[in-house]
Amino acid sequence: MYEQVSHSLLNEILNELKPEIRRSDLRHFYTRLGANFYAIHSLFLHLYGQRDDVKEKMIRLVEVMASRYIERSNELEQLDIAREQDHNWFLSQEWVGMALYADGFAGNLEGMKEHITYLQELGVNLVHAMPMMVCPQGASDGGYAVSNFKDIDPRVGTLQELNDLAAHMRQRGMLLTLDVVVNHTSDEHEWAKRARAGEQQFQDYYYIFRDRNVPDMFEESMPEVFPETSPGNFTWNEEMQQWVMTVFHDYQWDLNYTNPGVFIEMVDVILFWANQGADIVRLDAVAYLWKKIGTVCQNEREAHLILQLMKDCCQVTAPGVLFIAEAIVAPLEITRYFGEDAIIAKECEIAYNATFMALLWDSVATRNAKLLNQGITSLPTKLDRATWLNYIRCHDDIGLGFDNADIVRAGYEPLAHRRFLVDYFTGVFEESESRGLPFARNDKTGDARISGSLASLAGLEAGIEANDDEAIDSAIRRILMLHGMILSFGGIPLLYYGDEIGTLNDCSFLEDEEKADDNRWMHRPRIDWEKAERRHQHGSVEQRIFDGIKKLIAVRKSVEPFADFNNRELLSVENEHLFVFLRTHPARPSETVLVVANFDSRSQHLDLDNLGNRGGFRFGAPQDLASGESPALFKNQLVVPPYRFYWLTDQHPTGLV
Ligand code: GLC
Ligand code: GLC
Repeated sequence: MYEQVSHSLLNEILNELKPEIRRSDLRHFYTRLGANFYAIHSLFLHLYGQRDDVKEKMIRLVEVMASRYIERSNELEQLDIAREQDHNWFLSQEWVGMALYADGFAGNLEGMKEHITYLQELGVNLVHAMPMMVCPQGASDGGYAVSNFKDIDPRVGTLQELNDLAAHMRQRGMLLTLDVVVNHTSDEHEWAKRARAGEQQFQDYYYIFRDRNVPDMFEESMPEVFPETSPGNFTWNEEMQQWVMTVFHDYQWDLNYTNPGVFIEMVDVILFWANQGADIVRLDAVAYLWKKIGTVCQNEREAHLILQLMKDCCQVTAPGVLFIAEAIVAPLEITRYFGEDAIIAKECEIAYNATFMALLWDSVATRNAKLLNQGITSLPTKLDRATWLNYIRCHDDIGLGFDNADIVRAGYEPLAHRRFLVDYFTGVFEESESRGLPFARNDKTGDARISGSLASLAGLEAGIEANDDEAIDSAIRRILMLHGMILSFGGIPLLYYGDEIGTLNDCSFLEDEEKADDNRWMHRPRIDWEKAERRHQHGSVEQRIFDGIKKLIAVRKSVEPFADFNNRELLSVENEHLFVFLRTHPARPSETVLVVANFDSRSQHLDLDNLGNRGGFRFGAPQDLASGESPALFKNQLVVPPYRFYWLTDQHPTGLV
């Protein structure tokens, strides 16, 4: 948009840029800055306009964007241009992701590069390499307490190795996702150290208070993230004799985004990693970016404005780079991270589908799809050019983040139902095959979340221990069915490393004093490559899971209705054990795939003549794309065996009736 005030300011800013910036070839940069400047300037004014130094800061921001642009390699800039031209590129069904810790996966960055072929063998072409920036040993929160945002932890590798890895992956058509931990720094970060030493400029980077007045006001409405290990949201600092806001652990200091200096630093960090070859940047804990007394300090409007502003800035310097929002919040709140009031995503193009993840686990425990159907019905439609990250497990705990109203609609009492789920996954419930542990139990609220590896939660550990082939078989089916869901739901499936070979809980963290109080480590494995080798042994657990997932991935990539263009329709069916939805080809509506999953331990029937809102569905010769088999039909009734799912198409196009 052209608007005179911001246009003349833009001219002024460009004149004031440092000479070395002015002399560079900034043709593309200028075009994009011009196109985005009105939005950038308005948001910046909205957030920081009341400050005397707002213009100076605005100039500084443009300088940062320009410097990072000048530094951006030719190759990456060509990618930017190609992606601008094909701007829906990431909605394709061809992307399949995996999240992993480089050291857990293969020791370090070099090992990771050597094992890229393993990921390719499976079909993975997008890797979220968990944070590997410099962190203090011990107080690292698994990489999320960063003490230097611009270098790699020497135990994992070097910046040069990361660049090599990124280039290696690019050659293979694979995408790299890196984290930027935007909400906080480690207390060992230089900014925190200088704040402790008394430098006001750096004390202003954080929320620091002389006495308990303000902290107490905040505490009245702020929940606790780690109630057991890090109660409260403030930590007393002896050196400064002041209170510091620490929402996560006491060694993670929350950054103060009311200070434009902080915003500019973090834009610089994002662009820095974009220039190291990140195709996608995962913005950590974005719900927490803005704090306001009297609120839960999550999902505040300003947090969204900050993300929009980050997106606009990134659009100017590195427009090919996408953002993932890590906002593990209520279902309605999550979708807002795609961008409020926008038609196409204007904050983060991608968001964790924590709702779907939690609902899938609900269905595993209850053996029915009542809450799953209810929760998905309530899930708002996404914007265009925005997509989900669909996952079953990640490095964090499983929060039961669905809506209480949906629990009630599904016929349960929220408190009792949540308690049942925690009991179920922690093996307290008698008939449970699950082997998880409770995480972050909060005695004040009765809340708890769940840790444990996918395989152990799905019953594989119990099955193997009991030497029970049937239980092992059921667990494998469950694992494949859950993958079948994230691979077909619509969005980018994000597998979790180790799950592809049925990795069980790893309890060795208990022997490590620095990890023992955080049981999320039980599902952050070190890959056992001998175990992984067994994927070549016909009939082994590893082979059945690995080949099963590999096949599903290959099929997904060839099924265009699985691309994500808001082309999914949930079908309400009478049988409560079944989760049924229809995927439609984005350009050819007659091409559909009917997804049917049975969460029950017994076979279930689906009446194809009576498919809820869709009327009926008549198959000539139904074909299950997932297995390549033709499931039996009797009087237009489909039989779905226990923990099995189908991706059905019709060989003969009879289709809808
Ligand atoms: C995110 C990370 C989690 C970490 C937290 C604090 O939620 O996924 O592992 O503990 O942020 O940085
Ligand atoms: C983030 C997530 C929360 C998770 C926590 C620690 O705050 O929002 O769900 O439990 O990190 O893992």
